[in-house]
Amino acid sequence: MIDQAHNLREFVVESRQRARVLAVTSGKGGVGKTSTSVNLAIALAAQGSEVVVLDADLGLANVEVLLGLNSLYNLQHVIHGERSLTDILVTGPGGMKVVPGSSGIAKLADLGPRARDNILTGLRDLQEETDFIVIDTMAGIGQNAVAFAAAADEVLLVTTPEPSAIVDGYATVKTIYQMREDSVVRVIVNQVINGQQAKAVATKLSYVAQQYLGRKLSYLGYLPRDPHVSQAVMQSYPFVLRFPNAPATKCIEELATRIINQRLDAGANRTGFFRRLGRTLGLASNG
Ligand SMILES: Nc1ncnc2c1ncn2[C@@H]1O[C@H](COP(=O)(O)OP(=O)(O)O)[C@@H](O)[C@H]1O
Ligand SMILES: [Mg+2]
Repeated sequence: MIDQAHNLREFVVESRQRARVLAVTSGKGGVGKTSTSVNLAIALAAQGSEVVVLDADLGLANVEVLLGLNSLYNLQHVIHGERSLTDILVTGPGGMKVVPGSSGIAKLADLGPRARDNILTGLRDLQEETDFIVIDTMAGIGQNAVAFAAAADEVLLVTTPEPSAIVDGYATVKTIYQMREDSVVRVIVNQVINGQQAKAVATKLSYVAQQYLGRKLSYLGYLPRDPHVSQAVMQSYPFVLRFPNAPATKCIEELATRIINQRLDAGANRTGFFRRLGRTLGLASNG
């Protein structure tokens, strides 16, 4: 116990952070998290940032599937100490990098201390080498899903206009705020007819959050329902590269610009990600 706490402290002090950590999450599955994560990563990279996508959907990892990649090594090998996180990095289309995930990984809470250290050390090293880490998380309110979101610098909550997606999105936001009061949550409304519909959805969600949680959610932007997105998925290739003039591509580029321009306050402490994730995982194993 004492050793573990000590390691964690050293680890936080040593971290020379650089990357902004964005967790892409949702209440409901199938709303467009993975598609948004990888295309946003490419759009950020196209604007001159170094970007890594971490496939943290420990249940249904499919970042690689969407990109047409098929790596030999993935998070499972990091957890087992066979490879380091930087060893398993692969270069994806558009120059971004990917930490391949693995489906069916046990609950984070069940990982032993060594496995947790392997992941945390890897993430710390990664954060020193890149501008953005985009984490594609699981959907829902389980610990695996919310741990990454609550630890991230910013949460990008993806919802569609469907009532079930909005309601589940609210439940996720609530759980994230319960884990960490000062989370920063920004809403992306996907699969909308137009910007007006997106704004209406974001306003509804923000109103409920304000009413019941006392928190305002900021609206980041939207993606239209666009057949190019599903076509690109079928071709295992990102739509921003396959269809540079598609409406969804324009919107993703705007999201990327807005994210780059909305830099966190100079005072924001980005060692926070590791401290927070380490604390969550530590608590999970002790409790
Ligand atoms: N803006 C969009 N327009 C059209 N289809 C979309 C859009 N976003 C997502 N989809 C479809 O929804 C499916 C699920 O998206 P995905 O990113 O895998 O969701 P999640 O990661 O949240 O489960 C995709 O395979 C794609 O066909
Ligand atoms: Mg997904």
